[in-house]
Amino acid sequence: MTRRKLIAGNWKMNGHIDHLRELHGIEKAAKAHPQVDVAICPPATLIAPAVARVPNLAIGAQDCHASDKGAHTGCLSAAMLKEAGAHHVIVGHSERRADQGETDADVHGKAEAAHRHGLTAIVCVGETEAERDAGEAEMVVTGQVAGSVPADATADWLVIAYEPVWAIGTGRVPTLDDVAAMHAAIRAKLADMIGDKAEGVRILYGGSMNGDNAADLLAVDNVDGGLVGGASLSADKFVPIIEAGAAQG
Ligand code: PGA
Repeated sequence: MTRRKLIAGNWKMNGHIDHLRELHGIEKAAKAHPQVDVAICPPATLIAPAVARVPNLAIGAQDCHASDKGAHTGCLSAAMLKEAGAHHVIVGHSERRADQGETDADVHGKAEAAHRHGLTAIVCVGETEAERDAGEAEMVVTGQVAGSVPADATADWLVIAYEPVWAIGTGRVPTLDDVAAMHAAIRAKLADMIGDKAEGVRILYGGSMNGDNAADLLAVDNVDGGLVGGASLSADKFVPIIEAGAAQG
């Protein structure tokens, strides 16, 4: 089956209001290549200003709380992000799993909250270098999928991002064979969980994707797009990745 590629940018804790100027070139490239989906997830403070500035570009968030409201100082609910104009929310990024101690159960709750409020959940999974060296990468990642993905998930609102922790921000990427093996393992685990609906779920690769390696990575079986950190911060670096996705329709 053909799945539309999704090229999503994750700005992490980078960018102030003046940085939104980068979005014009990204919006233009997205419009020029309607066969791919494009999204940018800026810091939460920039979601509403970004939507105002580039109304035709999908804007997303980087995290949400599992609850809809309550005594959770400093947190944001999926409903709030939706109201601000978000289409997507990244949940369970490895930086949050490490820095905020998020568990698979937490990520599961956040993905459900995203769905309740009409957001697409981009559920992140990925092994550490030690886990890969120990030969445990597939076990760890499929375990994260099993624990993080809600049982009623469908391709309409679930995206998976496979991001090996050791590839994030390091300039190192797995071999294409390793990427293919992991994406196939994730799809098989999803099929165990949600049956035929697994076929339509997009599985993104993330970790040091850039304009030089995107075409090769995006050509791998079961790689349905990219989650891009550093290279999403400027239109100059991000647009070639959009073009690489578009070239593969
Ligand atoms: P990177 O980050 O592209 O800078 O490696 C990817 C991510 O963490 O989503």
